[in-house]
Amino acid sequence: MNEKQMKEEIIKLAKERDALILAHNYQRDEIQDIADITGDSLALSIAASETDKKVIVFCGVHFMAESAAVLAPDKTVLLPVEGAGCPMADMVTPEALQVMRDKYPGVPVVAYVNTSAATKALSDISCTSANAVKVVASLPDKEVILVPDRNLGSYIASQVDKECHLWPGYCPVHDQLLPEQIMQCKAEHPDAICLAHPECSPQVLEEVDEILSTGGMLEFVRNSSHKKFIIATERGILCQLRKENPDKEFFFPDYEFICKDMKLITLEALLICLQNMAPQITVPDEVSVAARRSLERMLAVPRD
Ligand code: 13P
Ligand code: SF4
Repeated sequence: MNEKQMKEEIIKLAKERDALILAHNYQRDEIQDIADITGDSLALSIAASETDKKVIVFCGVHFMAESAAVLAPDKTVLLPVEGAGCPMADMVTPEALQVMRDKYPGVPVVAYVNTSAATKALSDISCTSANAVKVVASLPDKEVILVPDRNLGSYIASQVDKECHLWPGYCPVHDQLLPEQIMQCKAEHPDAICLAHPECSPQVLEEVDEILSTGGMLEFVRNSSHKKFIIATERGILCQLRKENPDKEFFFPDYEFICKDMKLITLEALLICLQNMAPQITVPDEVSVAARRSLERMLAVPRD
């Protein structure tokens, strides 16, 4: 089967199965091309919670499919490659988080959406990179525990008047970008606006113009009258940036900005997944109920 035939077969099967195909902004171009909705973690969580389709096929990584299963407990949630994970999400376990909770009794835990459902179940509220500052600012407490991303955590801490206890996790894809690589790219494109994801290190974030989620970057570029942008996040975002802004130019720092887990989802894997209705992602009831409370509390925070 060639690419065109595979795409046609996926669309046909998705219709037969009453399936909604969600794709994260870091997915391969060909996956983004056929998805019903492409977006950031927040947009996709909202889409999962609102769909009336019977099946959700999540083209992304494991924690995203788990969040969809938690938010839409009556749906069948499929992740085309079960092993597509997020190394940062694996850097905190419920057991280790409990030790931190015991160290700071009564201090609320804010879990970045890049965590397992079991970790979210132990948190008070979730956040994504799109709403992290608003979520933390909405809490009445003077102290918070932020897990698992130390970079997002230190960015939040710089934006709110609260004592923030950070977890030492990080995204291996974003954390290794060096400020020198951003400076070099800025020197090559002095008239470009520089956008970075908050998972980049504080040293990188100091060098950029805007700190945004992937959805925030797309919105910023869409609404900007500027023509050139330096993008400090995973290269998959280029697909939507180019589609939405054919008249604008995008530059990446000289750095291998690829999330290997996101790229595990291929057209072939998606087709086989729809044929077999597997792998299915499920979350045990007791975990799901507690994780849903954390995610729904996040979704209730006013967006704008
Ligand atoms: P966004 O929610 O900004 O799309 O980020 C998800 C992610 O995994 C970033 O590495
Ligand atoms: Fe996880 Fe980083 Fe990949 Fe996002 S880019 S899914 S944080 S490893």
